[in-house]
Amino acid sequence: MTKPTLALIGTGGTIAGAASTASVSTDYKPASLSLAAVVDTVPELRQRYNIAVTQPMQLASYDVRPEHWLDLHAAVMQAVNNPDVAGIVVTHGTDTLEETATFLHLSVDSDKPIVVVGAMRPATAYSADGPANLLDACCVAACPGARERGTLVVMNGRIHSGLWVGKRHVSSVEAFDSPLAGAVGEVADQAVQWFRAAGRAPTVAWQTPSTWKTPSEWPRVDIALAYAGVDETAMHAFVAAGARGIVHAGLGNANTPTAYRAFIQSLPAQGVLVARCARFITGSVTRASVYADAQHGILTAGPLPPHKVRIVMLLGLAHGMDGHAIQGWIDRILLAG
Ligand code: SIN
Repeated sequence: MTKPTLALIGTGGTIAGAASTASVSTDYKPASLSLAAVVDTVPELRQRYNIAVTQPMQLASYDVRPEHWLDLHAAVMQAVNNPDVAGIVVTHGTDTLEETATFLHLSVDSDKPIVVVGAMRPATAYSADGPANLLDACCVAACPGARERGTLVVMNGRIHSGLWVGKRHVSSVEAFDSPLAGAVGEVADQAVQWFRAAGRAPTVAWQTPSTWKTPSEWPRVDIALAYAGVDETAMHAFVAAGARGIVHAGLGNANTPTAYRAFIQSLPAQGVLVARCARFITGSVTRASVYADAQHGILTAGPLPPHKVRIVMLLGLAHGMDGHAIQGWIDRILLAG
């Protein structure tokens, strides 16, 4: 039987991390081993698949910046455009894994499975979860049922949509979850079970197919967290630093403290897009007449958390969308579920 060809793209993280001894699982250096070395620790991978490894970067994911996403996008597109490649696996640190997965989900327009995978324990630990996660991720990437689902995340036997997944624990191997949306499938012993039919959110190119444009420079989009007693200081600083968008990570149903509501409402007219999100993650924020969202051009994004809405705004602004167009795209994304 012919083996499927998988493109494995390494970026670093704990899956490639090393500690001083095998009993240490939280005090270690991420991105210490190459992806090729990690692949060699799982001999079954090469028995089951033709593996092509590339390593466009090698870093801890807390150091990943939007500029790195562009290098990763280029590497993924090279694999997408290679007719021999059945699926793509990206190894990544877990701290910003959900941001990179969201970026790929909303920027790569391809039917091919793209699976982002990491590990909570370094490769040197007795309790290393990387080898099993990597084998699971490859199994999903080679699975025909994974097509047309956009970018997926595989961690600890669960398959999640890259759009809805998030890291919920600092050290447990069961760290990833998709609140409200739930996992889209499971993988165990090379068997994949789907819980949901294929489907995906539209990418940034949804209005004009095949028009992904690599931004020469990312716009600045910041997140301002609300808390008891918050004032306008952070928002002023973001505007002064040149922010083109600010995500207001608000209280409760994305509530805005009364004291600076008028300031926030004035920002879109000054050319700074604002989105109202909930600072904690479960629940769908609704458009509210009390904030006159529509009148002031303030965006709302249902259950999408602040750091994911930031990515939507980054992509939308980088593609020349105004607030109205970005809200239209968000509505399409939410419609797709
Ligand atoms: C990182 O995100 O690179 C460090 C943490 C991890 O991968 O689990």
